[in-house]
Parts: sequence; C-alpha cells; structure tokens
Amino acid sequence: LTDKILLSKISKNSTCKIVVLTGAGISAESGLKTFRDNNGLWENHAIKEVATPEGFARNPDLVYRFYNELRAQLLDETVKPNPAHYALGKLQSLMGNECVIVTQNVDNLHERGGATNVIHMHGELLSAKCGKTNKSVISHDDVTRESRCTCCSPAQALRPDIVWFGEMPYHMDDIESHLYDCDIFVSIGTSGNVYPAAGFVNFANQCGAHSIELNLDPSDINTAFAEAHYGPASKLVVEFVERVQSLLQNS
Ligand code: APR
Repeated sequence: LTDKILLSKISKNSTCKIVVLTGAGISAESGLKTFRDNNGLWENHAIKEVATPEGFARNPDLVYRFYNELRAQLLDETVKPNPAHYALGKLQSLMGNECVIVTQNVDNLHERGGATNVIHMHGELLSAKCGKTNKSVISHDDVTRESRCTCCSPAQALRPDIVWFGEMPYHMDDIESHLYDCDIFVSIGTSGNVYPAAGFVNFANQCGAHSIELNLDPSDINTAFAEAHYGPASKLVVEFVERVQSLLQNS
C-alpha cells in the first residue's frame, strides 16, 4: 500500500517534492551524541545553563566552552557522514531542488554527505554570530568572550550561532512554504520533543503530504505519521532512497 501511495505522489506529475526533517539520531552512528537518549547531552548538561539566552548572560564562558567542545568533537577526523547522510545526498542529486533537507542538527554531516540544499533551523556549530547584528560568520575556531565580529565598528562580541530555547528558529518562512507544497514528508532521527519542528508533520499532513517516520524508536509524535519504520538510520534511509529511486525510474 505505502509504495502505491509513494508511487501516486511521485508520478502525480513531473515534480514530486520531498521534505526531509532530520534530528540528532541521523548523526548518532557518526559518533555524535544525541540529546535525549541514554547518556545524551541533556543528561550531562542543564539546558537552562547552556542552551538559553539567560544561561549565556549568566555564565557566557560555560556556554562558549559547551559549544567549543561540541565543535571539537565534530572536527575530530573520526566523525564522518554515515550511509544515511550519503543516501540523502544521493536523493538530492536525483531530485534536485524537489528534495529539501530541514535539519535541527548543528553539525555539517549532511553537507559532507553530499547534500547541497540544507536548511539549518537551529543554527550551526561551524559558524558564529555577531551579538549586535546577528550576522553569521564561518568559524571553525573556538568562540570565546574575546572573539569579535568584523561587521561592526567598534567590533562586537561573537556568540555561538545556535538557536537556543526561547529563540525563534531560522528560516521558518522558507520551511513553511516547502511543507505547504510537499508530497512526501520524511522525519528521520528526531524524538519529536521540540517545537516548531515537532509540529511539521501535522502541517504536512494537512497539506496532503504522505508522512513517514524513520527512527530508532517510536517518537513522541509517532501517531501523526501515515507510515513508520524503526531501526538505525544508516539502514532505513538507504532503503527509503532506494525505494524512491526505483519508483522515480518506473514512474
Ligand atoms: N538511527 C535512527 N534514529 C536514532 C538513532 C539511529 N542510529 N539513534 C537515536 N535515534 C533517535 C532516538 O530514538 C531519538 O528519537 O533519534 C532521536 C534523537 O532525539 P533527541 O536526542 O531528542 O534529538 P532531537 O530530536 O534532534 O532534538 C531536537 O532538541 O535539544 C534540542 O536543539 C536541540 O535540535 C535539538 C532538538
């Protein structure tokens, strides 16, 4: 049945649009910690201390250190894209702009896995932003209280380019327009705990999309999906892309 639905979506006309939402689970097999699994990041760090504007105001050095440690892990040469990232890179090369990846992740593994159209709604570890203008700059180095922007005179302090709890995620207008006209919405490796990302499936369903959850375990929003497969992303995402590729070739 689900392949019939996928085929109906894919062959409805020439342009079938797929929106993919990813969370920390897609990078777990690359060696990056998730947030809410056993021994996850939020087990060892208080969200209010390291992921809120108030926490940053209270103790900026603790927050700078937290994101500098995450960046150092990401830049470790043992951390590489896994088959799920490469499969999505292949899907984008197959579908071009008709496949959009919206990620809650702040790593660069989608791009290193060949993806070219990635919307980072929660920011990125490998950039920093000016505390005054909010302009982002590429930054692979540590960001500390001494770091300064290049967009202001006098130069202003830089902060991690991360969307903290209580702050508005980036690119929401673009994301909503993609959800509005997507035919297939696929959620990968997210627990469905954090809004607005956790609400995207409902919006996509209301707009007539076929929604699919690919996750290690059922997420908190698993009942919202028309179709679900559980297991490691490195297996499920490869299988999903192979399914779409064969349906595209036969449509
Ligand atoms: N393959 C597929 N899914 C996996 C894997 C794997 N190998 N390993 C873990 N998962 C799943 C878990 O079952 C869980 O549902 O990934 C999900 C990770 O959930 P979270 O740790 O809550 O991460 P995420 O959903 O991305 O968090 C969303 O919360 O803290 C904020 O801004 C932060 O972007 C983050 C947001």
